[in-house]
Parts: sequence; C-alpha cells; structure tokens
Amino acid sequence: MRIDKYLANMNVGSRKQVHELIKQGIVTINENVVKTPKEKVKENDVVKVGEEEIKYQQYHYFLLNKPKGVLSATEDLHQKTVIDLLDPKDRYKDMAPVGRLDKDTTGLLLLTNDGQLNHELLAPSKHVDKVYQAKIAGIVSEETVRNFAEGMTLKDGTTLKPAKLKILDTDEENGTSKIEITIKEGKYHQIKRMFGAEGMKVLELDRISMGRLSLPEDLAQGKYSELSVNQIKNLKEEK
Ligand code: URA
Repeated sequence: MRIDKYLANMNVGSRKQVHELIKQGIVTINENVVKTPKEKVKENDVVKVGEEEIKYQQYHYFLLNKPKGVLSATEDLHQKTVIDLLDPKDRYKDMAPVGRLDKDTTGLLLLTNDGQLNHELLAPSKHVDKVYQAKIAGIVSEETVRNFAEGMTLKDGTTLKPAKLKILDTDEENGTSKIEITIKEGKYHQIKRMFGAEGMKVLELDRISMGRLSLPEDLAQGKYSELSVNQIKNLKEEK
C-alpha cells in the first residue's frame, strides 16, 4: 500500500496533510526517510511519523454508551449522529453503527468499520440476544411475561420470537414498572410496540448487552471504548 494511503487510513491526516508531512521529511519506513507519497509499505515494515510509530489496523471496534437525542446513523444534515460522538481521530472510513437504537434509547451500541462483521451480527439467522432494561408506564403483570414468552403477533401482523421478560420492580403509587427484557431480533421499535400491544408505554429504554458484550458500568453515556482483542474474538465467534 502507498505510504500516503497508509497514513491517511490511519487518520494521521488527510492525503494533503500527509503529503505535507512527507515533504517535511519526518515520515520514515524502517528508519529510512520517505521521499515520495508513492513509496510502498510492506507487511512488517515499521512506519513512523517523527518518533511515533503508526501501526496499521484495518478494523476498529468501539463500544459506545449511546445517550438520548443522538441518531444511530452515519450522517445527518440536521441532527447529531453516533459517529459525531467519536473523536475525529477515531472516525475511520466506513465507521457505522451495528444496528440501530431509537433516538431516545440509551446504552450499548457497537460501532465498527468491519462491514462483514456488521452484516453478520445483524443477520436474522443469528439471533444474538439483546438485553434491555426499561421503565414502563403501567404495572407489568405475569400475563405480559407469558405473552412475551409465547411470541406475539402485533396488530400489523408482525410475528415476534419468544422474548424473556423479568419484572425487576413495580411502583404501585406511580403506576410504573422496571423490567429487563431479552429479545433475539431487532425489529423496528420492537420493544415499544410489544408493550404498546399490552396497553403500556415505554418511558425509558437502555440496552445493557448484546451477545457476550456488556456495557461496562464505568462507561458514561456519550463515552466509548475500543474493544480488546479478546472481546473482538468473542464477537466473531458470535457469528
Ligand atoms: N426496541 C425499541 O422499541 N427501541 C429500541 O431502540 C430498541 C429496541
């Protein structure tokens, strides 16, 4: 790969900025100063800009704790997207969210430029468990637990796979419940529509895990962390 492409892909700067760094004579391959942007980098070559080594990493995987009010999209003319939450140096080409959370839903959202993994994790045949906690307007009953466990058919004919519902707490005075729900699909507004079918409204919705990936307790909303090699390995085995 050409050195200018290599450095631009690693977000060292735009192609133009990278050409400038090369002109300044501070880019080296195996300690030899790079003379032209056309110079090629081979596997195991050591690339440095000044003293800093720039390692090549094709794919990046970030675990974001999505806040409310942000779109699960790559770009939008008027509204903030989850990509806007990334530090500019982490906005790698083709970075995209794996699936969608509603604008008012918070919690775990994976962002990656690994299109293949993104596609496979979302495949309907995968059935990766997604766990959410929610505050519901209404007192959730054991009947709703059973209805969800059987798999529901919504009014518009959408059929849903069985979902596991746990009632964590009910507040009779305020008429609200705290619940945990595990679903295997990710249909449009799925959880809101499931509770809607039971005559209840979702007030707050937070995703806490997806497959073996859980949201670290110390990851504040709006913050993200890069996944460890082990987490990526687990994620790939999820396929
Ligand atoms: N179900 C919903 O209704 N909304 C989400 O954001 C995720 C699941």
